[in-house]
Amino acid sequence: MSLHVNGQPQRLAAESDTPLLWALREELKLSGTKFGCGAGLCGACTVHVDGQAVRSCLMPVQGVAGRRVVTIEGLSPDRGHALQRAWIAHQVPQCGYCQSGMLMAAAALLSQTPQPSDADIDAAITNLCRCGTYPRVRAAIHTAAQ
Ligand code: FES
Repeated sequence: MSLHVNGQPQRLAAESDTPLLWALREELKLSGTKFGCGAGLCGACTVHVDGQAVRSCLMPVQGVAGRRVVTIEGLSPDRGHALQRAWIAHQVPQCGYCQSGMLMAAAALLSQTPQPSDADIDAAITNLCRCGTYPRVRAAIHTAAQ
């Protein structure tokens, strides 16, 4: 199975029905993408596939053959993405577990809607955060959009 992950060509040995999440974490050792629910509900496992936010726990690796996958490790080479800077400025994370998925969902939103309204953010960011960081997530997205 061939695909591109964070700009690098990769060949996966995983079975074709292996969730992308586990191929990324176990085979490619990209542990920034997190396992939360395993059922497509929480968004902790969000990555980009051809620029779209995808919940990797539900995506079999055969579904990404030949496609471009970006994980939190590939969002920016120097952690200098506007969202990452805004996340730090607003001190968004609390425990931090869900935040890589939040950032990937936010990055996909800004790539499609560069100046999102609160309603746009609420509609696009359906990721769950047990620490309740939602107000800071929203504020940081607005800062990054400036
Ligand atoms: Fe994929 Fe929760 S682990 S949506």
